[in-house]
Parts: sequence; structure tokens; C-alpha cells
Amino acid sequence: MRLVTVLAAGIEGVDGYLVTVEVARAEPASGEGRVTMVGLPDAAVRESVQRVTTAIFASGLHHRPHDAITVNLAPADRRKEGPAFDLACAIGFLATIADNELPPPPRDALFLAELALDGTLRPVRGVVAAAAAARAAGLRAIVVAPANAHEAAAVGGLQVVAPADLAGCCRWLRGAPAPPLPPPPPPLPEREPCLSEVRGQEHAKRALLIAAAGAHNVLMLGPPGSGKTMLARRLPGILPALTDDEALEVTRIHSIAGLLPAGCGLLRQRPFRAPHHGVSGPGLIGGGNPPRPGELSLAHHGVLFLDELPEYARSTLESLRQPLEDGHLTIARAGHRLRFPARCMLVAAMNPCPCGYLGHPTRRCTCGADEIHRYRARISGPLLDRIDLHLEVPAQKPEALQAAQGGESSAVLRQRVQEARARMLRRQGVPNALLEAGALRRHAQPSAEALRLLAQAVDELGLSARAHDRVLKVARSIADLDARPTISIDDVSEAIGYRVLDRPA
Ligand SMILES: Nc1ncnc2c1ncn2[C@@H]1O[C@H](COP(=O)(O)OP(=O)(O)O)[C@@H](O)[C@H]1O
Ligand SMILES: [Mg+2]
Repeated sequence: MRLVTVLAAGIEGVDGYLVTVEVARAEPASGEGRVTMVGLPDAAVRESVQRVTTAIFASGLHHRPHDAITVNLAPADRRKEGPAFDLACAIGFLATIADNELPPPPRDALFLAELALDGTLRPVRGVVAAAAAARAAGLRAIVVAPANAHEAAAVGGLQVVAPADLAGCCRWLRGAPAPPLPPPPPPLPEREPCLSEVRGQEHAKRALLIAAAGAHNVLMLGPPGSGKTMLARRLPGILPALTDDEALEVTRIHSIAGLLPAGCGLLRQRPFRAPHHGVSGPGLIGGGNPPRPGELSLAHHGVLFLDELPEYARSTLESLRQPLEDGHLTIARAGHRLRFPARCMLVAAMNPCPCGYLGHPTRRCTCGADEIHRYRARISGPLLDRIDLHLEVPAQKPEALQAAQGGESSAVLRQRVQEARARMLRRQGVPNALLEAGALRRHAQPSAEALRLLAQAVDELGLSARAHDRVLKVARSIADLDARPTISIDDVSEAIGYRVLDRPA
């Protein structure tokens, strides 16, 4: 019997783990042997036997029928899914053939690709996570399809080998130099849309600027067509640029979800996800079997936009609460816990009333006070408590829409946001929205008159202790935008203005 081991990787949640593919070949006593696969393979992994044997024959690498082969995927207690084990299996099949001259596969290289029937290497999901696991384990090289090469290279610290096909991979194993990597992907074409394209809405733009600086969640109330979606879509473009580590995390999650464009390296833009209100709980939060990242995790380091907020299933909205607070969620699976990152800004939009025209300058609202109350009550208090700014986005007058100038560009605003954010990080290590109560007391000190105004507003609007703190955080962000160490009465007054849902409709 001949035995070889080849390294591959599996994905669980958003993390990769090394899988050892053990291949044992025994000369059959009589006739053709069969391939047995063990180690919790799913259907796609089991089917790899057909792909692999056909690819080997088609590549002209071996022409004998099978001996008896056993494949074990270790660790045996984790479920292996998908076609990414094809390449490792093929290398194992070939390396166990007595007269094949394929040396034993290197113990410091990871093999990860699907095989087409003609032996071509096809890209797979989760290469960033697999490469990160390989690097953490001290491996030296990763072998992937050319379409995954730049994704693997983005992790750094590994030699990336990207042969076009199985025969090319065998040539490398026999000592030929690694084939050149495909040309780097062209820079992503579409630029972020600019906030200056939104005419008027100075109040809403100001609120977005504050939100971006402090990473505050936002809720916009306004009639249909007033520009809420347009505004939300432009928030990622004024957020600070992603750091390298953040970009890698974003790329990793998109890769696992199968949303990375072919040939792509690092995603450099902040995500913007806008799931429809019909989205399922697992679709929004993550989960399923096997567990996959939901919209919330796809929005990690970016923006999750929920349009028509009252239309989402209440239970779905409620399940957002904890992860919004923690910046991640955990899903329990067969005795262990998977952790999904979920540090995003929530931007929600809704009509001010069921018909949409409450407060409209020219159209009449037909809703009764009860209806309006019921509509707004669909957003639970605890969820609302996690939204620091709620503001009105009224319909704009035609003169405003036709204005030649749209105000400051996203590039200028992003610069201000970046400077304000840097101040926060130097002072307290986190954006203002994430300040804990103790740190808030230490770092957000209002002037005496500002404190009096805040106390008065708490009384008059009946604000909760939590809302009181939220106002302070927003006021802190307003002061940071102007590089002022102390929070002034104007800052508090402006922050109180972004609490429209705390006022009677
Ligand atoms: N303030 C604005 N400036 C420029 N165009 C606007 C503005 N508000 C609305 N529009 C136009 O109206 C369309 C609908 O706006 P949208 O953002 O979808 O509104 P809402 O989400 O509030 O229903 C936009 O695509 C844009 O063409
Ligand atoms: Mg809209």
C-alpha cells in the first residue's frame, strides 16, 4: 500500500482550517478497485471522485483504471463541503501511483481548487480565509486557480502558485518554476457616487457627516422620492478609507459568500448592502446549514441600509439588536460557536406615516393619528435606542433641486470625517458611537450651560438615560468635527435636534 498526504483547507463560518487529505492506494486483488471517501464529505466533495479521475485521464497523466483507493479528510469530525478539495485529491491520486514519478507533495504547501473535467483549475470560495489559515500554520506556498491568485496574494507571506491546469501543477511539483501570475486585476471601475449630486437636503447631509465621523447609526424619515436612498448610498464615500486589515476582512467575507468578482484582489471600498424588506432572518443576520454570513456581515466595515424599516419582519429587526451592539454575532453549531463579524453602520429609512406625506409642503397626509402611532411603534424602542440620529428628510422645493451647486463633495467631507475620527481614536481608541458609559463621562464633558440644556431636554422630551447618553455622543462628534475639546451648548442643541422620533408626531 502507498500512502501520501496533501494539505487543503475547509471553511467554517468566516474562518479557514487546514484539512489533511490522506490518500491510500492498494493494488486490488482482482479487477478494478474503487474509491472510498471518508471524513464527513458532503455530496459535492464525494462527487469530486468523478471529476478528479476524469481530469486525470483527460490530462494524460495516468491511463490505468483504478486501484482500490481510500481518501480520508482529517480532522474527521468537521463537515467538508464544496469542490475545493478536487486538486488535493488529484495530487494524492497521482502521487500514490508507483511509477508516476510525482514526488510526495510538499508538506508546506496548500492545494485549493476545483477541477474541470479537462483538468483546468477553477476558482473556489474562501481563498482569503484558507490562505490566512495556511499562513498562520507556517506554510510556505498556496496553489490555487489563476482566478484566485490575487485573492491569495492579498493575504501576504505565501508563495502563490497558480497553474492553469492539473498538468501544470504536476510540472511545478516535479521542479519546474511556478508559472507567472495572471496580470493584476484592473482597479475597480465604479467610483463612489458623490454627495454633491444630492441637491438641497443640507440638514440631512450635515447629519450624515456627523454620523460618519462618530460611526453613529441613522434613521431618516421622509416622503417617497425625497432622496433618502440617494443619501444613504453616498455614506460609504465619506467614511474613512479602509485600512489594509479592514480591507482583508471585507474581502474574506465576500469571498466566502461567493461575491468576489473573478480575478479580484483586495476589496478597497466600504461595503454598502441594501437587503429588501422581504429578506429572511438568516439572510439578514447569517446562519443556515452550513452557516453563511448574512447581509449584516457582508456590511462589515461598511453600511447596512434598511429601506422602509417598518416593513421588515419584527423578529428579524429584533435579532439585529445584539450584533449591532457587539459588532459581531455568534452562531452555535454542533457543540461549538462560530463568530461572524458585524461591525457596520446601520442606516434606516422610513416614511413619516403610512401614506408617506405627513409634513409634505404640497400633498395632503390622509393618515389618522392612531395609524401614525401604530406605524412608528413597529420600530421597537430597544432598536430605536441603538440609532443615535433620527431626522426628517423632507421633500425639496423645485428651486432647491435645480440649484447649480450641490454643496461640498464627498472627497472634502471624507477628509473632515477622517480628521475627526483620528481625534477620537487618539483620545479614546474607539469612535464616539462605541463609547462605554464610563469612558463617555471621561471624554465627553459639556460646558455647564450645555449640561443644563441637556437636563431640560431630558425632562421635556422624556428621554431615557440611554437616550441622554446618545445625545452626548452625538454632541461629542459634532465638537470633534470642529476640533473642540469641550462640548458647547450649540453642540448639545444640535444633537437634540436629531431626535425627531422622541417628539410627538
Ligand atoms: N435632493 C435630491 N437631489 C437630486 N435628486 C434627487 C433628490 N431627491 C430625489 N432625487 C431624485 O429622485 C430619485 C428618487 O430619490 P430616492 O433617493 O430614491 O428617494 P427616496 O429613497 O426618499 O424615496 C433619485 O434617484 C433622484 O433622481
Ligand atoms: Mg428609497
